[in-house]
Amino acid sequence: MIAAGPIESNPDGFTLTDQDFEAIADFAYKHFGLSMSSSKKPLVSARLARQLRQQNVVNFKEYLGRLNGPNRDQERNNLLSLLTTNVTHFFREPHHFETLRNDVLPQLIEKARNGGRVRIWSAGCSKGPEPFTMAMIIHKMCPEIGRFDFKILGTDIDPQVIQFAKTAKYPQEDIEQIPSEYRSLVPKMDADGRMPENLRSMITFGVLNLIEPFPFKGKFDAIFCRNVAIYFDTPTQQKVWQAFQQNLNPGGYLFIGHSERMSGPAEAKLKTSGITTYINTPA
Ligand SMILES: C[S@@+](CC[C@H](N)C(=O)[O-])C[C@H]1O[C@@H](n2cnc3c(N)ncnc32)[C@H](O)[C@@H]1O
Repeated sequence: MIAAGPIESNPDGFTLTDQDFEAIADFAYKHFGLSMSSSKKPLVSARLARQLRQQNVVNFKEYLGRLNGPNRDQERNNLLSLLTTNVTHFFREPHHFETLRNDVLPQLIEKARNGGRVRIWSAGCSKGPEPFTMAMIIHKMCPEIGRFDFKILGTDIDPQVIQFAKTAKYPQEDIEQIPSEYRSLVPKMDADGRMPENLRSMITFGVLNLIEPFPFKGKFDAIFCRNVAIYFDTPTQQKVWQAFQQNLNPGGYLFIGHSERMSGPAEAKLKTSGITTYINTPA
C-alpha cells in the first residue's frame, strides 16, 4: 500500500504525482515483484525524470503508456534497470564460498565423479561474478570437472546483465578482486579478454523472473539467491523461498543475502546451517 505524499518535482522539471507514483509502483510490483514504499518516491522521480528527458516524453502518464506500447519489452527492461541495482563482484560475501568449498562441494564433486548429475543455481546473478566465482572454486578443487555432469545456471530478470554475463568480459579492476589463490585460473583468459573457456563452459546464463513459476524439470543441489529478495515484500519473499525449497534436492543448500531473512512455509523445511545458509530437510 502506497501512502499519500507531496507531489515530487525533480531538477528535470517533471512532476511525479502520488497517482503517477502509485501507478509505477503497482506496475513494478506486478511485473518484477519489486516492493516500493512512498519513501522511494524521490528516487523514482529523479531516476525516471532523466529517462523521460532522454526519450522526449512529456510527462509520467505518457511514460506509463509506453510501458504497454509497441516497444514495451525495451521500456520495461529500462524501468527495471532504473529501479534496481546490479552491484555485484567476485567472491562477494566470502563466507558463503567458504561453506561451499568446505561443506558442499566435496560431496557434490564425489557425486559427479560417480556419474551423478549436479546442478547449482545462481538466481539473480546480475553480470555473472557469482556463478564465475563458483566455477573458479570448483575448477580449483577438481580441474577435470568438465568431464562430469556438473553445471551452473546463472539467471537474472534483466536481459542486459545476462547479455554481459554471456560475454564474460570483465574489467581489470573486477578481476583484481579475485583472491590470489584463484588468480592462476584467470590469466588464462582468451585473447579477447573473456573469462577462460573451461569456466564459461560450466555456466549457462538465461533470463528468468523469480516471481514467475520456475520452468525446471530437475532439482538443484545448491541455490544462491543473494541481495535480490531485498526488493520484494514479505509475501513475495516467502513465495520465492518456498519455490527454492521445492526446487532443491533433499540435503541441498540455499544461500541468501546478509540482509535477507528466511520466513514463511519454507522455514519449517530449511534448517539453518551457518550465516544465511540453509539445508533442505523435507520430512
Ligand atoms: C544487487 S544484484 C545481486 C547480484 C548477486 N546475486 C550478488 O549478490 O552479488 C540484484 C539482482 O537482482 C535482479 N532482480 C531483481 N528483481 C528480480 C526478479 N524479480 N527476478 C530475478 N532477478 C531479479 C536484478 O536485476 C539484479 O541484477
